[in-house]
Amino acid sequence: MQGLFGIITPSGLHFERHHQGWHDVDPSKHRLMINGLVRTNAVFTMDDLMRLPSVSRIHFIECGANTGMEWGNVAVPTVQYSHGMLSCSEFTGVPLKEILDMCGADYGKGRYVLAEGADGSSMTRTIPMELIESGEVFVAYGMNGEMLRPENGYPLRLVVPGVQGVSWVKWLRRIEVGDKPWATKDEAVHYIDLMPDGLHRQYTSVQECKSVITTPSGGQLLLDKGFYNISGMAWSGRGRITRVDVSTDGGINWREARLETPVLSKAVTRFNIGWVWDGKPAILQSRAVDETGHVQPSYGQLRKVRGTRSIYHNNAIQSWKVVESGEVSNVQVL
Ligand code: MTE
Repeated sequence: MQGLFGIITPSGLHFERHHQGWHDVDPSKHRLMINGLVRTNAVFTMDDLMRLPSVSRIHFIECGANTGMEWGNVAVPTVQYSHGMLSCSEFTGVPLKEILDMCGADYGKGRYVLAEGADGSSMTRTIPMELIESGEVFVAYGMNGEMLRPENGYPLRLVVPGVQGVSWVKWLRRIEVGDKPWATKDEAVHYIDLMPDGLHRQYTSVQECKSVITTPSGGQLLLDKGFYNISGMAWSGRGRITRVDVSTDGGINWREARLETPVLSKAVTRFNIGWVWDGKPAILQSRAVDETGHVQPSYGQLRKVRGTRSIYHNNAIQSWKVVESGEVSNVQVL
């Protein structure tokens, strides 16, 4: 992440998360089955799908567990470790709504779909029908102008903008329409939030507004005092980023950063701001705001609500400490 420019993650650098390794699927044998509360069950080949009207859209995908190591305390040294399960790509495919319309989905009773992958992990996730009706969810075969790579779900994956990565089912082979959530293992036991009162919260799948300074960041070295371009990424699962503020004194003073175009809904937005380092200790932070008004919380604010024992959905403000030698390291500011 510290080596990337702009907003697009080159396909070869896209993060990978597999519950049972990646699979080499023969596209000529791959099928997508639609069943459940539909008038006609259907099976699509890749050729069938690639004849349908397609869309190309830029979105981020973030694993719900991104930054999960940092809930209790500082745990990892660099931005790649703390925030690296985030990528942003242009995906190409067919809106799931179009496919469900073709099969005569019962939108009255069928308020949920189940997405199932063809790997060995039984990766099955419930997606609320509102998201599909919005037209935003699509079955993708393309990423950054080429076919998906095997590790990212070739030949077919679900794209669920704004929602945590686990719902973007790879090697997608079946969509079932149903009338209630399935409570599969990856939504009843994993990908749940342990709250301070000891209860688990389920189905919190939207990735809230978040940002991180990628340069200067942990493990990097400032060679000399003087001018630096502070650069980073901001994103929100609820829409567009409207503002990013940057502090160089641990959150006492903030300055508004420049948002670089394009600023797209549910995509990474690049921000930049100039900084003259006087050679003294400094703490760099960024704080994003999205179009719903959600302000990225400090660790103190987030822990008050969520406690410290979660794994998923940590969107707290990241702090990087700069010392006189120019070394940059990971710290937490409440
Ligand atoms: N789909 C299947 N079939 N199997 C998986 O293991 N992992 C999920 C999701 N889709 C997974 C899957 C998780 S946890 C994440 S974060 C994203 O895929 C990661 O997508 P990527 O490997 O393309 O970055």
